[in-house]
Amino acid sequence: MAKKIHSLEIAGTPVYIGQGVFGELQEHLDTKLATREVIFLLADENTIEHCYPVLISMVPQLEKANKIIIKAGEENKTLATCEKVWNQMAVEGANRQSLLINLGGGMVSDLGGFAASVFHRGMPFVNIPTSLMAMIDASLGGKTGVDLYSLKNQIGLFSKPSSVYIWPGFLSTLPHRQLLSGFAEMLKHALIADGAFWKKLTKIPMAVVSDWEDHILTAIQIKAKIVNKDPLENGIRRQLNFGHTLGHAFETYSLRNDASPLTHGEAVAMGMICEAYISYRSLGLDHAQRDELVRNILLNFTHYKIPTTAIDELVEITHYDKKNRKGRLMLTLIRDIGKAVEGQQCELALVRESLFRYTDFSRHIPRE
Ligand code: GLY
Repeated sequence: MAKKIHSLEIAGTPVYIGQGVFGELQEHLDTKLATREVIFLLADENTIEHCYPVLISMVPQLEKANKIIIKAGEENKTLATCEKVWNQMAVEGANRQSLLINLGGGMVSDLGGFAASVFHRGMPFVNIPTSLMAMIDASLGGKTGVDLYSLKNQIGLFSKPSSVYIWPGFLSTLPHRQLLSGFAEMLKHALIADGAFWKKLTKIPMAVVSDWEDHILTAIQIKAKIVNKDPLENGIRRQLNFGHTLGHAFETYSLRNDASPLTHGEAVAMGMICEAYISYRSLGLDHAQRDELVRNILLNFTHYKIPTTAIDELVEITHYDKKNRKGRLMLTLIRDIGKAVEGQQCELALVRESLFRYTDFSRHIPRE
């Protein structure tokens, strides 16, 4: 029996989802191999150990690919790591006809997509996301880039992968914290666009979800609908940034201060708590919905404790947010669960207030 496969298009890129995706990848590789192009495979030290063996058991041609292995972790999503990738590609004869396969989470697809896109003014790449976060968000939609002095994604470009292959089986290799990180983005997709999906996701704690494929498909369909209307993020695509302005501030703060920093999703989850508060104060989000949001996030995520003395640093980090216009902080907020509004100007005083409230939110939210 043929293995199940779903396909859709995001900003002109074919995206395949399901058990049978590697048949599609094989066809893509056959075309490259027929013309003897060099194929590179970028992985980090975790995905080369846990995902690469699974991949070559299903796509044996990939054993011949030139492997480039980088250190895992957001702290390595830098130009210095790109330089190593470019050096190896140059030494091993990469050119504009070669192909880079990014096997990994968001760090690998962001960095690999960027490295390929500027090498020889643009070498094609495909993404094989291995984390939940990359499957439903980072590997899709053409955002590529690296961090600068621990500020997120400051250097990069929009550049489309040739195709994306999502095989949910990789999730069984993922540590719980990484799964949780992707779950935050999934909750965000629901919060901005699909109240029914939110209800489905919050019915049971994430730890007991066993079949991810349907959730992944729904989350990707939400992203596709938004990105296809606005691939270069001039308007509605900003909705996907709900929770991310404060989330990036938590993430940068944590990268600077913690031995074991927050994952991207953990930071976004905390960002959504603050931005829900701002939505309540400035966009009329009903307080019962705000509390429902906070309660469900805290059901899955540990409340990240910050001292009140950290608030100035967090507010200062929000100044570097790419969505700001003319020095003004611009946020995506939610009017209701399932209805986001982008481009909302926000006073720094309200950001500060949300962070003060955040420091003791868990005491204010009634348990059900
Ligand atoms: N991760 C948000 C976006 O792709 O626009």
